[in-house]
Amino acid sequence: MHLSVVGSGYVGTTIAACFADLGHDVVNVDIDEEIVDAINAGEAPIHEDGLPELLEKHAGSNSTNRLRATTDYAELLNTDATFLCLPTPQNDDGSIDLSIMETGAAQLGATLADKDDWHTVVVKSTVIPGSTEDKITPILERESNKIAGEDFGIGMNPEFLREGTAVHDFLDPDKVVLGADDDRALADMHEVFDPLIDQTDAPVVETDTRTAEMIKYANNSFLAAKVSLINDIGNICKELGVDAYEVADAIGLDDRIGAQFLRSGLGWGGSCFPKDTAAIRAAARQHEYEPLMLDAATEVNDEQPTRLLSFMDDHVDVRGKRVTVLGLAFKPGTDDVRNSRAIPVIEGLQQRGAKVVAYDPIAAENMREHFPNIQYAESPAAALDSASAALIVTDWEEITLLDKEFDAMATPVVVDGRRAIDRRDGIVYEGLTW
Ligand code: UGA
Repeated sequence: MHLSVVGSGYVGTTIAACFADLGHDVVNVDIDEEIVDAINAGEAPIHEDGLPELLEKHAGSNSTNRLRATTDYAELLNTDATFLCLPTPQNDDGSIDLSIMETGAAQLGATLADKDDWHTVVVKSTVIPGSTEDKITPILERESNKIAGEDFGIGMNPEFLREGTAVHDFLDPDKVVLGADDDRALADMHEVFDPLIDQTDAPVVETDTRTAEMIKYANNSFLAAKVSLINDIGNICKELGVDAYEVADAIGLDDRIGAQFLRSGLGWGGSCFPKDTAAIRAAARQHEYEPLMLDAATEVNDEQPTRLLSFMDDHVDVRGKRVTVLGLAFKPGTDDVRNSRAIPVIEGLQQRGAKVVAYDPIAAENMREHFPNIQYAESPAAALDSASAALIVTDWEEITLLDKEFDAMATPVVVDGRRAIDRRDGIVYEGLTW
C-alpha cells in the first residue's frame, strides 16, 4: 500500500520506518528540513533502538527505497492513506492543545481537495475522545470540500509504543486497535496492518474512533496509576521497614495484578503519562466529574522527588556542596528528558544551594536546555568526584554497575530513586521506597 505519515517525531518516524518494513511504500512529511534530510540519508533523527537499522534498510542509498521524507504535503496525493502523528501538547490547565493537529488537518484537507479518489485519514496522535469525530473531521471536510464517509475515510489507531523499545513494540504488539467511523476506512486500516497481524497473531480490536481514543487514555492512565499505587505501597513499606521489591515480586505472581510496572521509586515522567493523565483529568472536570483515583496517582507521583530529597537532607546539608545527579533521561534507553523526574530533583537541589553535577550517557545535551548552568560530567566517576551526595534518578545499566566510583565522594551518601545499585559497606545508602 502507498502510505503517508505526517510528523517525524518519536512516533511518526518509528511507524514510517516500521510500515516500510512491513512492505508498504511510505512517505513521511515534516516541516523540519533537517529531520527530512536525515531520514532521506538513512539516518535516525532521534535515539530509538533498532531505528537506525530500519532507516538504513529502507531509506537513503543502497536501501529498498520504500521510505522517503519530504516537506511537501502534495506528495500525500500519491498515497492511499495518511497517518497523522503530530504533537498534542498541553495547555496551562493540563487540558489538551489540539492546535497543531488542527493546523495539520487543515493542510491535509486542502491537499486532499485536489484528489479525485478515495483517501483514508487515520489519527495516530493521542487525542481526547471525540476529537477525531468532532474537531478533525469537520476541518478535513471544510478544507477539502468533501464528505467524510463518502469521499474520504476516517480512522483512529492509537499507539502503545514505549520510547526506547518503540520499534520492537510496533513489530510485536499486544493488540492492534482499529477505530473507524466507516467501513472503507476500516478496510484500509486492515490492509495496512494485516501483514503485521498475520505475522504476529496480535489480537485486533475493531471499534469506532471515539472508543479507540479512550482506549489509549485508559491504557496510559491505568499504567500510570499502577506505578503510583506501587509507589504508595513502597512508601508504606519503607516506613515499616519492609522490602517493597520483595513484596512487589510476590504480588506480581498474581495473574490479576501481573509483574510489570511494579518497580517503585521516583515515579513516572516522559511525554505521555504526565500529559495524558492531565488531559483526561481536565476532560473529566469539564464534564463535572472529579477523577479521584487519577488525581491521587498524580499527587503520589509529584511527591516522590520531594521524598528523595528529604532522605538526602536526613544525612547531609548540601548547601555549597557538590551533589551528583546520576541519570537525566525520564527512563533508560532514551535521550528524552521531557517531564523527567531529574527536573524537580535538580530544582530541589538548586533551592538548597547545592552545586549540581549531572551525568547521563546520552541525555545531557537535552537537559542543557532546561538547566544551562549546572555542570555536566563526561563520566559517572568525574561526576562523583568530591561529591557530598549522589542521587540516582535513571536506572541506566551503566549506573547500576557503579561500585568503586563511589569511593571518590567527599561523603558517601547515596539516595537511590530506582533501586539501581546494590548496597555496599561504607556507604550511607537510602532506597526511596524500600
Ligand atoms: C508509555 C506507555 O507505556 C506506552 O504504551 C505508550 O504508547 C506511550 O506511553 C505513549 O503514550 O506514547 P513511555 O512513556 O515511553 O510509554 O514509557 P514507559 O516505559 O511506559 O515508562 C513511563 C514512566 O514510568 C517512566 O518514567 C518509567 O521510569 C516509569 N515506570 C515504569 C516506573 O517508575 N516503574 C515501573 O514499574 C514502570
